[in-house]
Amino acid sequence: MARTRIHELLHKTPVGADVTVRGWVRTRRDSKAGDAQRFSFVEVYDGSCFASIQVIADDGLANYEDTVRSLTTGCSVEVRGTLVESPAKGQRVEVRAASLALLGGVDAEKYPIQKKQTSFEYLREIAHLRARTNTFGAVARVRNRLAFAIHEFFQARGFYYIHTPIVTASDCEGAGEMFTVTKLDLKSPPLTQAKDVDFSQDFFGRHARLTVSGQLNVETYACALGDVYTFGPTFRAENSNTARHLAEFWMIEPELVFADLRDDMALAEEFLKHLFKTVLDDCGEDLAFFKQRIEPTVIETLTHVVEQPFEHMTYTEAVKTLLASGEKFEYPVEWGVNLQSEHERWLTEKHVRKPLIVTDYPRDIKAFYMRQNEDGRTVAAMDVLVPKIGEIIGGSQREERLDVLEGRIRELGMEPADYWWYLDLRRYGSVPHAGFGLGFERLIQFSTGMANIRDVIPFPRTPGNAEF
Ligand code: 4AD
Ligand code: MG
Repeated sequence: MARTRIHELLHKTPVGADVTVRGWVRTRRDSKAGDAQRFSFVEVYDGSCFASIQVIADDGLANYEDTVRSLTTGCSVEVRGTLVESPAKGQRVEVRAASLALLGGVDAEKYPIQKKQTSFEYLREIAHLRARTNTFGAVARVRNRLAFAIHEFFQARGFYYIHTPIVTASDCEGAGEMFTVTKLDLKSPPLTQAKDVDFSQDFFGRHARLTVSGQLNVETYACALGDVYTFGPTFRAENSNTARHLAEFWMIEPELVFADLRDDMALAEEFLKHLFKTVLDDCGEDLAFFKQRIEPTVIETLTHVVEQPFEHMTYTEAVKTLLASGEKFEYPVEWGVNLQSEHERWLTEKHVRKPLIVTDYPRDIKAFYMRQNEDGRTVAAMDVLVPKIGEIIGGSQREERLDVLEGRIRELGMEPADYWWYLDLRRYGSVPHAGFGLGFERLIQFSTGMANIRDVIPFPRTPGNAEF
């Protein structure tokens, strides 16, 4: 008999149906010594939803004493039986077992997932098992729903999904924090006359690295197909050990054509609201858990964000506001410096108390491709800041003027020839266009209230960590 998923059993399957459940034991409770009949309640989960189903197994089962009575957390089982109405509070139905087979046992003494020892730090050391816990199961389901909602959002609006490469020769963000991809012999790599590594002899015939962003590549398709997006893994070799940084993270990058910064900001706001609304509508059970156990304000916050218009402020206004705040920041603020996470958080959490879009940053702290404003000092950039996280989206209108873009590349000490294909987009049929990048894990953090970004991706890659 095919298994019925617990989600279906709890919500759809009619009472009285014969069912087969396959899953893992969450807990077992036995009847008390004085009870007339010996029986056990076994909570079984199968990942299809947050809830487990209660199975009642009694001593009428041939293997009751030696199998059922020794079930412990994590054992895998197959239960056949009947779905009956549950007299217990908080559940519609339960399964009365006609048979219960142990599929895979667990040595309870050695099982690393113990009730008492489940700090997130500890669970990171057993990342291959942590998906079995309530928290990581819930995170995985929200992550899955959001990934799908991203495609739903763009597909409904006529955007094409473009697969951009992971191995690249260009540094999109210009920060140089990239991982090298090589087949050279690391013990004795070929050297140039200047004693640099000679990547022309490497697999790709050049210095290849893991991409920090799909943007430059996705722009090429935007300038041919119209509105597009890419959604894939990106890599940053920055040594930041924070609760918001990963060395490998997923990014969603739409690119809009015949569009300016206003269009870009409007899309970002509509996009985030769509995603948060989806979580509120479709992940209720998991959200209830996050509210109860992780972040009491998570549902309120998401609802508030969906309902309120985002706030807007230029970088120059943001700096003025921060200077006038009277707040003591660890990093001092002045016009021209990058906003630190503490500044971003103060602005969005304390000052406007909702998502805030900061625009028009100084050109010297932003990437080369951003469109220069008339004032000669700022660029048409925007960052979306949200409470607890700070920057969740970074985007801009792109410099579509060939001469200005070439000038900027030179000014930054880079070589226009290295960007020949990117510059071709401005050489042939250039159009105003704009886009942004949403960090997928920061989105999940905000949606669940999970404090550390390492706990919203199955296998986090951070400095010193790539075990699993
Ligand atoms: O602001 P960033 O660097 O923008 C870009 O990469 C542009 N090329 C995007 C574009 O215009 N198409 O990164 C975008 C977002 C950030 O706002 C943040 O949410 C996330 O990516 N992000 C990270 N998330 C986790 N770990 C890191 N190390 C991250 N760096 C950026
Ligand atoms: Mg950024």
